[in-house]
Amino acid sequence: MDVLTKMSLDHGSVYESLAIFKNLSAAMSENDQAKRTAALKNFLNDIILPHFVYEEDNVIPVVLEYGDPAEKKVTQEIKQEHVEIIKKINEFMALTAAAGAGPAETTVLALILRHARKEDVYLFPAFKKYYKV
Ligand SMILES: [Fe+2]
Ligand SMILES: [Fe+2]
Repeated sequence: MDVLTKMSLDHGSVYESLAIFKNLSAAMSENDQAKRTAALKNFLNDIILPHFVYEEDNVIPVVLEYGDPAEKKVTQEIKQEHVEIIKKINEFMALTAAAGAGPAETTVLALILRHARKEDVYLFPAFKKYYKV
């Protein structure tokens, strides 16, 4: 599968999963809440973290090498966002062992959503221009 197809499929599932997690009611039973948190942890570990690594290996270096100054700048920001989001994910993972993970979860999901939108608008169009150079 080529990089752009994989990226568009990955982002499709990111948006879909984020919508599901957002819509699941906070009024669920304790047992269901625990299942939901476990599903969210799996989503972060199995989808988000490998997706970041894939982008850093296959997408970001191309734009950092061939992009114009504005494209390089936004791509540096996106790369830095990975670092910040991973930090927030780790905080969330640590908190889910205890109570009070709700706000940390909201932060993580909001950051990932904003990040994915920014990549769709800035990173992938630039990557599309340069990846066959
Ligand atoms: Fe990313
Ligand atoms: Fe992404």
